[in-house]
This record gives sequence, structure tokens and C-alpha cells, in this order.
Amino acid sequence: MWLYLAVLVGLYYLLRWYRERQVVSHLRDKYVFITGCDSGFGNQLARQLDQRGLRVLAACLTEKGARQLRDQMSDRLETVILDVTKTESIAAATQWVKEHTGDRGLWGLVNNAGIFMPTAPNEWLTKQDFMKILNVNLLGTIEVTLSLLPLVRRARGRVVNVSSVLGRVSFLGGGYCISKYGVEAFSDSLRRELSHFGVKVAIIEPGYFKTSMTRNERFSQGYQEVWDRASPEVKETYGEKMLASFMKSTEILEPSWSGKLSLVTDCMEHALTSCHPRTRYSAGWDAKLLYLPMSYMPSLLVDAVIYWSSPRPAKAL
Ligand SMILES: NC(=O)c1ccc[n+]([C@@H]2O[C@H](COP(=O)([O-])OP(=O)(O)OC[C@H]3O[C@@H](n4cnc5c(N)ncnc54)[C@H](OP(=O)(O)O)[C@@H]3O)[C@@H](O)[C@H]2O)c1
Repeated sequence: MWLYLAVLVGLYYLLRWYRERQVVSHLRDKYVFITGCDSGFGNQLARQLDQRGLRVLAACLTEKGARQLRDQMSDRLETVILDVTKTESIAAATQWVKEHTGDRGLWGLVNNAGIFMPTAPNEWLTKQDFMKILNVNLLGTIEVTLSLLPLVRRARGRVVNVSSVLGRVSFLGGGYCISKYGVEAFSDSLRRELSHFGVKVAIIEPGYFKTSMTRNERFSQGYQEVWDRASPEVKETYGEKMLASFMKSTEILEPSWSGKLSLVTDCMEHALTSCHPRTRYSAGWDAKLLYLPMSYMPSLLVDAVIYWSSPRPAKAL
């Protein structure tokens, strides 16, 4: 009985492996637009796809980031400046993409741009803090997608949205987890709607990786800024020791985060080039072994884990 089961499972994985290895044709004629290419996953994906021969349209937030990328890569890679929180910037980038892609349409759209801070316990934050993250990570993703969707539909292409393990388990206060839960929900509805047009939508869920977003100084600075403007009542209730614990925990955890960004960009590349992309990609050991299993556990258990592993407020019961 166990032998049959093992053979069946083995067969399933063999078939899946074979199916997922089929690559779409004419990659060199396919245009892929990526947001947030100044650094991190976006930057690495732009380089990786350029080396693979695809036509990369890399959107950077800064002119400096765009120049660096252009200088280091082939003439085929082109850059544009894009702030995903600004409607006029999205409209200009869309026009630029239209001019480049012409009748072919856009094969791939990768919504990668994102920010992490301000993140802290909810009570330390203001509505503006939540909006700052939601505007980039969620509303930016939505507006860029809506603007470019006609071009993606024309190519029967792919939308790849970068979520996070924190779009499955809400570990932290503030807008980040909310934004990534939102990206998951948006992607799910989009995938179902666009299946009628042959467009495929994939979600990338990385664990923690070392990028400019997760640099320890960025965390410390972000926590400190939020703390400095918190009300006296919040400061008294939570206590400076809790702030110090947050800063210490990121300092301790940072070395354990992976610097192998290709674990994530390989998933993105697969979503763009495989004939049969997955719906969701978990990238990183922490995503696969910790956060993904946690997302299926009962809330009672997850709450207990988070309760016992988080810093405690000064006036906790
Ligand atoms: N690193 C991780 O552990 C991790 C885990 C899960 C998911 N993710 C997700 O992965 C994606 C990429 O992040 P990353 O880790 O590669 O961090 P990153 O190196 O900071 O890359 C994010 C890029 O987005 C840019 N950006 C910020 N605001 C923007 C805006 N308004 N318009 C356009 N671009 C903007 C950033 O520019 P600036 O640097 O100038 O701000 C940066 O170049 C994000 O969606 C993030 O949430 C990251």
C-alpha cells in the first residue's frame, strides 16, 4: 500500500517536473516590464532576463538606478523612470511601453516595487503610515496593472505580482502585511478573470532575503522615526525596552536571511518563461518550512507562537 502511494507521489512530481520544464517559444521577441529595478529582486531579474535574451523594459524609481543598469547591461535593455504612486508617471511609462512593444503587446508585467517601512505595532502608527505602504505595494501594483493590462492581453502574456510570506501570515503591525494580503487577493481575482483571455497570473511569495529593503539600518531608522513621534501614552504603555527589542531582533535575525536573490528571481523567470507557470511560488527555506506551514495552522496556534516570540509591552498584563 505504502509502495503504491510512494510510486503515485513520485509519478505526480515527475509529471509536474516535465510539464513545468516546457518553455515558451520566441523569447527574444518578448517584452517584459519590471517595476522597482533600482535594487534587489527587480534589479537582479532585469539582468537575468536580459542575459536570457528577453527584451527587458526596466522601470526604476531614480535616474541613478536607471543609468547604472543601462551601463552594465546590453543595448537591448531599456529603462524608464517610474514612481508607482503617481498616476501621471504610470501614464507616461505606459505610453513608453506602447511605443516599444507596438502591435506585439507586452508579454510580461512584473509588479515588484515595494517598501517595508514604516512598520511597527499598529498603535504606534498613524493612518498616513499605513497609506504610505499601501500606496506603493498595493495601489501601485493595481494602477500599474490596470494601465498595462490591454497590452498584456494583446500578447496573451503574464502578470507576476510580488507578494510575500507576510501576505499569508500577518506577523507585523502596519501596512506591509495588509498590502501583501491585498496583492494576493488582487492577483487571485485577476487570474480568474484573465484566464478567459489566455493571460496567466503568478504570485511570488519570498521569505526574508537580504536586499536594500531589509537592511538593518533601514529597520532601526524606521522604528526610531515612528517611536519618536508616538504619543506619550503609547511610549508609556509599550516602553522603550520594546523598541530596543525590535531593533535587537532584526540585528540578530539579519545574518540568517538569505543573500541568494536568485531563489526569488528564478521563480519570477519561471513564471514568465514556462508554458505552465505555477499560481504561487514560495521562495526561500523560511517560506517553505516555516511560514507556509504556519499559514495552514489554526489561528490559536499561530497566535500562541507570535505571542511567545514577540517583544512584550511594558504594561502587558
Ligand atoms: N527582501 C525581502 O525579504 C522580501 C520578502 C518578501 C517580499 N519582498 C518584496 O519584494 C519586492 C522587492 O523588494 P526588494 O526586497 O528587492 O527590496 P528593494 O531592494 O528595496 O527593491 C524595491 C525597489 O522598489 C523601489 N521603490 C520604492 N518605492 C517605489 C515607488 N514609489 N515607485 C517605484 N519603485 C519604488 C525601491 O526604490 P528605493 O530603494 O529607492 O526605495 C527599490 O528599488 C517588494 O515588493 C517586497 O515587498 C521582499
